[in-house]
Amino acid sequence: MTGHTPPMGWNSWNTFGVNINEQIIKEAADAIVAAGLADAGYQYVVIDDGWSLRERDGNKRLVPDPEKFPSGMKALSDYVHSKGLKFGIYSCAGVKTCAGYPGSFEHEFIDAETFAEWGVDFLKYDYCYKPRDMDGRLLYRRMAMALKNCGREILFSACNWGIDDSHLWMRSAGAHMWRSTYDILDSWESIKKLALQQLGKECYSGPYSYNDVDMLVVGMYNKGNVALGGCTDEEYKTHFSLWCMMNSPLMIGCDVRKMNKATRSILTNKELIAVNQDLEGRQAYTITGWHSKDVIHYIKPLVGGDYAICSVNFGDSKGWSHLEFWDLGLPTAAGYGFELHDLWTGENLGVKTESYMTALEPHCCKVFRAKLKKVN
Ligand code: GLA
Repeated sequence: MTGHTPPMGWNSWNTFGVNINEQIIKEAADAIVAAGLADAGYQYVVIDDGWSLRERDGNKRLVPDPEKFPSGMKALSDYVHSKGLKFGIYSCAGVKTCAGYPGSFEHEFIDAETFAEWGVDFLKYDYCYKPRDMDGRLLYRRMAMALKNCGREILFSACNWGIDDSHLWMRSAGAHMWRSTYDILDSWESIKKLALQQLGKECYSGPYSYNDVDMLVVGMYNKGNVALGGCTDEEYKTHFSLWCMMNSPLMIGCDVRKMNKATRSILTNKELIAVNQDLEGRQAYTITGWHSKDVIHYIKPLVGGDYAICSVNFGDSKGWSHLEFWDLGLPTAAGYGFELHDLWTGENLGVKTESYMTALEPHCCKVFRAKLKKVN
């Protein structure tokens, strides 16, 4: 069954906005394979808003824009599948999509059938132009039902930006992932804002239905459709670490055809991806730092008893990461310590007992895989 762990892939929006076409999508698919992203687990190639004509055809079907997609969606999905990848598309619960193309409102079943015919494996489903008095819950339940019965397994990626208390109903409506934030922009402020908005939503994320903190901006460097100043590689590392700790789907947003070495190595950090893809699917809980309120520790229980521990300095000055192990449930008298393995440097720090302290530069993080060890 699809969607047990957080979905991983690439989406066209962050870089291209509505300026997409079949050549770009094919080149993105090629790059995902050639750059080793597919081997690292990224599998969905998702076309976001702007792929259709402004009107449905005489049979009420959505029509791909023939100038952007002259070969049609079936041929494009065949191409993506031939690369061993999966094919995703975008629609909206409202009358129109956010960029003003036809939405699926009251066409849910015919659209699901169309997507199935095209070989679609993933549907991102937005929330713009929703008739004001329609209950959003009903609209997501409808599309979930249509997808489940269209004859093809299609992952349902809901995108209502976390409004209308969607954490209380989206999982049971049938979504495999659901946006718990507004849109990400390529800046540290945006990353910080989205991450902090997730506090308190940890327990609404789990296998087959994950909180989605929006697409990654790693490697965008202030280019593309969501530019807002860009980030440093250290900030992109913190962003990626946070999304892994929060179980967020990992949907790459940069131009994968032009990634530099740093971007590639951040996006393919195998040990961090393993934390994100952990089969128990528990989103990290948080502990505020002892010395600095700007430091937040994320603790993610993993299959088999290990923990992922990530300390983030959200502040703009140097901070101290001071973690007392009793705050994680480990009493000093228990006779155990944590063996710490650094997931960015690969360093093994040996077994630490009682606590661990390190300096953290602004916007930086440390991530460890921690293994419980008997010390006496
Ligand atoms: C909304 C979504 C974005 C993107 C755009 C497309 O803003 O949140 O992720 O899909 O619509 O118009």
